[in-house]
Amino acid sequence: MVAVCRGRGKRSDLAVRAPTPLAWSLMSIARVGIVGSGIMGSGIAETAATAGFEVVLRSRSQTTADATLAALEKSLDRQVDKGKRTPEERDQALGRVTGTSDLGALKGVDLVIESVVEDLAVKKELFNELDRITDDHAILATNTSTLPVIELAMQTGRPDRVCGIHFFNPAPVMSLVELVRPLTVSDETLAAARDFAETCGKSPVEVKDQAGFIVNALLFPYLNNAVRLYEQGVASLDDIDTAMKGGCGFPMGPFALLDLVGLDTSLAILDALYAEFRDPNYAAVPLLRRMVVAEQLGRKSGQGFFDYHARK
Ligand code: 3HC
Repeated sequence: MVAVCRGRGKRSDLAVRAPTPLAWSLMSIARVGIVGSGIMGSGIAETAATAGFEVVLRSRSQTTADATLAALEKSLDRQVDKGKRTPEERDQALGRVTGTSDLGALKGVDLVIESVVEDLAVKKELFNELDRITDDHAILATNTSTLPVIELAMQTGRPDRVCGIHFFNPAPVMSLVELVRPLTVSDETLAAARDFAETCGKSPVEVKDQAGFIVNALLFPYLNNAVRLYEQGVASLDDIDTAMKGGCGFPMGPFALLDLVGLDTSLAILDALYAEFRDPNYAAVPLLRRMVVAEQLGRKSGQGFFDYHARK
């Protein structure tokens, strides 16, 4: 059965594939494709592989894919050393992951989680390609933290099978997953996404397709205001971090957290929040923008609010 999607989105001429009926059940997610091997993509790959899913991890180059697999092996080795996993569990998890630079290798997966740069144009183009490459039954999900999921859904001929599955950093450790519900998604898709997240050992929450969802809408005004306080000379980086840990019981202070998330990602999140709501709390503090231009991106570049070169 083929229905035609009329009147909504740029690709309203697309043939919309009807959901495959009962044969496509929640339990049929076995193979997961992950596009993007940055902090989040590699963390999600580790999470899914250790939960028992076959994972195809697609990087932009085979060199990056190989480096990501090597990092995954190191991470699992550390868990074996700490007695959290047996050597057999590590080997099984590693055996479930394939690294590739070929997007075509995602044919045959049941779920794709896109985790590339927070750039709407890049993601739209990718969803367009994913729609062509993947099997009709596959769910296409985005790990975006702020961009409109509906924009990605409308790039495909299966807007009922597109949703957000938003993990938190570090993905193998943080228990939350936000399931994002664009206007077009079906209940079956959301239920399958929930089942996937729970099998990964996560506690999912459901949220409307609105910039920042729950966590980032609340977290980023706080992080932005911490930069403002520092910029105004109210207190030092260390003292602001110490204050929020000791005074509020947060596991990390705002500057350690900005460095963990990445200053470029943080700026992209604030810009997307500001673009949607025009709330001054979301207007990125000038220092943050300038640090991104200076390539002081946090842990990933070795320098952010703190210096990580000595810690590497
Ligand atoms: N991958 C895998 N495991 C990791 C890890 C990683 N990247 N980082 C830490 N861990 C593990 C450690 O191995 C350790 O495991 P163990 O207790 O079994 O030995 C455990 O996590 C605790 O790590 P540490 O002892 O090294 O350090 P901490 O106790 O300080 O915990 C932390 C580190 C889990 C990162 C903790 O500081 C924390 O929870 N910080 C807050 C993180 C946070 O707020 N994340 C959300 C950011 S917002 C976001 O992601 C949204 C996005 O859209 C931007």
